[in-house]
Amino acid sequence: MIRLALTKGRIEEKAIDLLKAAGYDCSDLDADKRGRKLLFKIANADIEIVLVKAADVLTYVERGVCDAGIVGEDTIMEGNGSFYELLDLGFGRCRFALAGPKGRNFYDGYSHKIVASKYPKVTKEYFNAQGVDVEVVKIEGSVELAPLLGLSDAIVDIVETGSTLKANGLEVYEDVAPISSRLIVNIAAIKLKKAEFDVLIPRLTAVIPPSSEN
Ligand code: PRP
Repeated sequence: MIRLALTKGRIEEKAIDLLKAAGYDCSDLDADKRGRKLLFKIANADIEIVLVKAADVLTYVERGVCDAGIVGEDTIMEGNGSFYELLDLGFGRCRFALAGPKGRNFYDGYSHKIVASKYPKVTKEYFNAQGVDVEVVKIEGSVELAPLLGLSDAIVDIVETGSTLKANGLEVYEDVAPISSRLIVNIAAIKLKKAEFDVLIPRLTAVIPPSSEN
């Protein structure tokens, strides 16, 4: 048996679509049946699915409670778990970007710069790599408000369509890193459950959409 952790929310539907495309019967997860359930069975394979928050996918997989997980590269970059990152699943493509009020140059002047983000680790690593000293303020959500209210000069956040930035008078200053969904696997499980993974991985690989389609 393989227990697979799926990230709830934004990438959940596409993860389920990928499993369906790979021939797995996910009817237990159908919206009209599932109610508030969090643990599901794939009807035609020995696979269990659990739905958890993104950061918890890393915890469950690292600790071996789940054998594998589907999670965004954004969560992997911000976390510090130890597991194998096996496949780029091709969906959930977006990017980390540095953004701020339209028409300004973030690097202009010598003033102390403040950057707000839900991803302080990613933000610090990005500026450290460039040798730029900024203060990073951790925000839990709606980060776009931070520069509007004067809390920060800029933000580092996920940009998908760009419409949230646009609606708030912000623009991308520079790209920080591309993001997509990944299959991560517990370090012991890849050996202990080799036979199961030897079936799952080729089936998923065969249906990963080409990058132009997502
Ligand atoms: C993410 C991100 C942006 C928005 C970007 O937030 O933090 O706010 O999506 O998407 P767009 O470029 O397509 O507009 P999310 O919806 O995950 O909500 P949150 O801020 O509550 O985390």
